[in-house]
Amino acid sequence: VMEYSLRPRYLAEYIGQTQAKNNLKIYIDAAKMRKEALDHVLLYGPPGLGKTTLSNIIANELGVNIRTTSGPAIERPGDLAAILSNLQEGDVLFIDEIHRLNRTVEEVLYPAMEDYALDIIIGKGPSARTVRLDLPAFTLIGATTRAGLLSAPLRDRFGVISRLEYYTIEELTFIVSRTADILQVQIIGEAAREIGMRSRGTPRIANRLLKRVRDFAQVKGDGIITMDIVNDALISIQVDHLGLDEIDHKMLRAIILSFKGGPVGLDTIAATIGEESQTIEDVYEPYLLQIGFLQRTPRGRMATHTAYQHLGLPIPKSSP
Ligand code: ADE
Repeated sequence: VMEYSLRPRYLAEYIGQTQAKNNLKIYIDAAKMRKEALDHVLLYGPPGLGKTTLSNIIANELGVNIRTTSGPAIERPGDLAAILSNLQEGDVLFIDEIHRLNRTVEEVLYPAMEDYALDIIIGKGPSARTVRLDLPAFTLIGATTRAGLLSAPLRDRFGVISRLEYYTIEELTFIVSRTADILQVQIIGEAAREIGMRSRGTPRIANRLLKRVRDFAQVKGDGIITMDIVNDALISIQVDHLGLDEIDHKMLRAIILSFKGGPVGLDTIAATIGEESQTIEDVYEPYLLQIGFLQRTPRGRMATHTAYQHLGLPIPKSSP
């Protein structure tokens, strides 16, 4: 319950993603003026940037219900048909990890998205026929870590495609202060900024770090979050000055020490450090690419000389 209330409920409370937010506001206002359902929206980007939060806000702003599910949770076409036929006019259906829908389920979605219709097959063999059932007009919001993981026919049926970006330090500092307010914990401005700087551009990480730091402040200090408390806490939980954690470090060290800085394939890196390739690709790699520690080449991943520098390792002449 607390966790949910940390999330902003309206666009005006939502910090960051300025471009996506401003555009969505226009589409929402226009749909409301026309008294129509909002066009289907695809939100994509690394985990923790607010895709679920934004979906709930869109439904709130539209003044409609939201039904939330995920790609892997919808196993059979009938599961999706049941969800769709229970929607009310204008409702939002949020499908997280939409790239993980299976093909037979995805095919139910096409006529639903395009014509608000459900095509039901009745009977078997030569006498089988399809009956088309009308659905209420609704808005599908799909979320995925990478738009490229979606099939082209599904991607083409979204009228709005919005990429969420990593947050700036200023935005994250603001989010940390806002969350501290809600949690009723005192935090020094400089300390809020330090947490912001060490959150890898990601509000979910910022809020998680804030909660852990709050624990340290309570047990080891007087409850107030100061710079000393932040620094001590983040050393204890092994988050470095740029916000990189143990897995980032293992990954970079593997590329540098076991593979001479690369290029090395993703699956090889994954096997070396004992992590899932998918997790590395969706969660760890995007931020390391963003800060210029990693490069993707046709022959694999390479550590850049800034990565060597950060780890305090001697820089070979060949590193990018
Ligand atoms: N909490 C998590 N993400 C947020 C955001 N983008 N704006 C405000 N509060 C948040």
